[in-house]
Amino acid sequence: MMTTVTRQPCKRHLILTFLFVSCSFSYLAVADDFRPTYHFCPDVNWMNEPNGLIRIDLDWHLFYQHNPDGNYWGNLSWGHATSTDLLHWNYQPIAISSADGIQAFTGTSYYDISNSSGLGTPDGLPYLAFFTGYFPSNRVQDQRLAYSLDNGTTYTKFQGNPIISQQQESPHDSTGGLESRDPKVFFHESTGQWVMVLAHGGQNKVTFWTSPDTKSWTWQSDFTSSSISGLPSGITGWEVPDFFELPIQGTASSTAWVLMLTPANGSPAGGNGVLAFTGSFDGRVFTANLVDPNNLWLDYGRDWDGAMSWENVPASDGRRVVAAVMNSYGTNPPTSTWKGMLSFPRTLTVQQFNGTLRFLQQPVIELHTVSGLLVDIANKTISPGQTLLSTTNGIALDITMSFIPTAGSTLSLAVRKGGSEQTFVNYTQSSAQMSVDRNLSGDISYDPNAGGVHVAKLQPDATGAVQLRVLVDTCSLEVYGGQGEAVISDLIFPSSTSDGLALTASGGDLYLQSVQVREVAL
Ligand SMILES: *[C@@H]1O[C@H](CO)[C@@H](O)[C@H](O)[C@H]1NC(C)=O
Ligand SMILES: *[C@@H]1O[C@H](CO)[C@@H](O)[C@H](O)[C@H]1NC(C)=O
Ligand SMILES: *[C@@H]1O[C@H](CO)[C@@H](O)[C@H](O)[C@H]1NC(C)=O
Ligand SMILES: *[C@@H]1O[C@H](CO)[C@@H](O)[C@H](O)[C@H]1NC(C)=O
Ligand SMILES: *[C@@H]1O[C@H](CO)[C@@H](O)[C@H](O)[C@H]1NC(C)=O
Ligand SMILES: *[C@@H]1O[C@H](CO)[C@@H](O)[C@H](O)[C@H]1NC(C)=O
Ligand SMILES: *[C@@H]1O[C@H](CO)[C@@H](O)[C@H](O)[C@H]1NC(C)=O
Repeated sequence: MMTTVTRQPCKRHLILTFLFVSCSFSYLAVADDFRPTYHFCPDVNWMNEPNGLIRIDLDWHLFYQHNPDGNYWGNLSWGHATSTDLLHWNYQPIAISSADGIQAFTGTSYYDISNSSGLGTPDGLPYLAFFTGYFPSNRVQDQRLAYSLDNGTTYTKFQGNPIISQQQESPHDSTGGLESRDPKVFFHESTGQWVMVLAHGGQNKVTFWTSPDTKSWTWQSDFTSSSISGLPSGITGWEVPDFFELPIQGTASSTAWVLMLTPANGSPAGGNGVLAFTGSFDGRVFTANLVDPNNLWLDYGRDWDGAMSWENVPASDGRRVVAAVMNSYGTNPPTSTWKGMLSFPRTLTVQQFNGTLRFLQQPVIELHTVSGLLVDIANKTISPGQTLLSTTNGIALDITMSFIPTAGSTLSLAVRKGGSEQTFVNYTQSSAQMSVDRNLSGDISYDPNAGGVHVAKLQPDATGAVQLRVLVDTCSLEVYGGQGEAVISDLIFPSSTSDGLALTASGGDLYLQSVQVREVAL
C-alpha cells in the first residue's frame, strides 16, 4: 500500500507545535529549526548521504541514509522521498529497513529492463537496489540486493542475500571485508554485463566486479591511487563511488567515463569532499586520464559530501543530475528536529576546454519555476563606497551576477545580513578567486570547522566577465562560478531576522552587466 504524505517540511512541525505544545516564544524558535525552503531535509531525525537515486516514470526517487529512531548516526536505513520537480518532496515510508541485526548502508539503484535478475513477475520488471549490509555485532560489511515490483514504492530484500559475502570480499579488502561498501551497480551495454564498483574504506581504492544476473559477482580489477597519474598526495579514504558515461561537450561524439568519489581527507575545505576522475572503461578496467588538479574537485566548500547521481533519467531529459549531503559536523549543527540536508540538485557535464576536460555544474533549471524577480540591475558601474541591494530582503534567494572587474577590485556580496551577522561571497580580481567567508555568518560556535573562508579559482571568461550564481536558503549557501567550473557549498546558521543583502566594491570599480535577485517560494 502506498501512503504518500504530501506536505512541506516546515509546516508539520509548526502544526505539531500549535496543537500539542503551548505556544511560547522558545517553542516557536524550535519549531522553525532552520528548516530549508527549497532544499530537502528529513521529516524528522538524521540523514547522511543520498542513496539509490533513480527516476521512475515522472518521479525522482530520493533514498538517503537515515536513522528513523534518533537524530544521530545509527540504525541506518534507506529513507525515501519522491518528487516530480526536484523542488517539492513527498516523504515516503522507509524503503529498506535496518532489521535482524543488519543495517542498510549506502548503495545505488538500477532498472532491470531485461529481467536478468529473474526477479520480475510475468507482468512487471524489477527496480533493483544494491546496498551494504552492516552487522554491528561483528562489524562485517557485505553487499546486498533488494527489489521493487511496484515501480519503486516498496522494496523486498532478496532471499539469497548477500550477493557478495565477506568471504568473497576478503582477498580484495585489506580489512578482510570489514570496510567493503557503497556498491555502485549498473548495466554495461557494450559488454552486456552488470558492473559493480565497490569502495574499500581507508584503502584508497575501489574494486570493479561483473555479473550476468546481479546475484553472482566476479572480481575484475582494482583501481587505486597508484593507477592515477597526477593525483595530488593526501587524498585518502575513498568512499561512495558513482560511475557513469557522459558526452564530452565541444566534441562531435566523444564520451568520457566519470568516477566520482568522496575521499575522507585531502579536500580543499578539509574533511570529506567530492572529486571526479575522467577516463575510459572496457567493462573490466577503468583507465583514468592524467589528473588536472584544477579540474578535480566538484566543490570547494565544507558541506557537499557523498555525491550521487540519478539513474534512469529518460533520454528526452538527458541530464546527469547529482546531489550530496550538506553537513560535515555530525550531530553538532544547531538543528534539533533534524540533521543533514540534501544539496540543491545540480547538473554535471564534461567539457573540452583549453586542452583538457573540465566539469561544469549548474542548479537544475526547475528552480526558475518557483522564483520571482525582486531586483534587476543592468549596465551599472559600482565604485568603492557605494552599496547596492541594501533594501532587498530574503532568506530563500537565487542571485545571478555578471560583472567585469577592474584591476585590483573585489566584489563583495553580503547575504543573510543583519545586526553583526553577514556571510560574504567575494570575487577578488588580483587572485582570480571566489570565496565564501563564514566568519560572521551567525552561529559558528557549534563546531570548530563552522566558520572560516573557502576559496576557489575562477578565471573571467573570454570577454573578461565573471559570472556568479548564489543560492541562499534558510541555513545554506551554494555559490557557482563561471559556467559552473567552481562551486562552494556551505551551511550557515544566521538568525532568522538576518535577511538583508549588500553589494559593494573595494579596491576599484566593477562594471555590473547584470544582477538579478529572485526570491524562491514553493
Ligand atoms: C535501533 O532501533 C531499535 C528498534 O527501533 C532500537 O531498539 C535501538 O535502540 C536502535 N538503535 C540505535 C543505535 O538507534
Ligand atoms: C522475469 O523472470 C522471472 C524468473 O524467470 C519470470 O518468472 C518472470 O515472468 C519474468 N518477467 C518478465 C516480465 O520477463
Ligand atoms: C509500473 O509502471 C508501469 C509504467 O507506467 C505501469 O504499466 C505498471 O502498471 C506499474 N506497475 C505497478 C505495480 O504499479
Ligand atoms: C589554459 O591552459 C594554460 C596552460 O595549462 C594555462 O596557463 C591557462 O591559464 C589556461 N587558460 C584558462 C583560461 O584557463
Ligand atoms: C546593457 O548593455 C548591453 C551592451 O551594450 C545592451 O545590449 C543591453 O541592451 C543593455 N541592457 C540594458 C537593460 O540597458
Ligand atoms: C569579503 O569582503 C568583505 C567586504 O569587503 C571583507 O570584509 C571580507 O574580509 C572579505 N572576505 C574575504 C575572504 O575576502
Ligand atoms: C576567519 O576566521 C579564521 C579562524 O576562524 C581566521 O583564521 C581567519 O583569518 C578569518 N578570516 C577573515 C577574513 O577574517
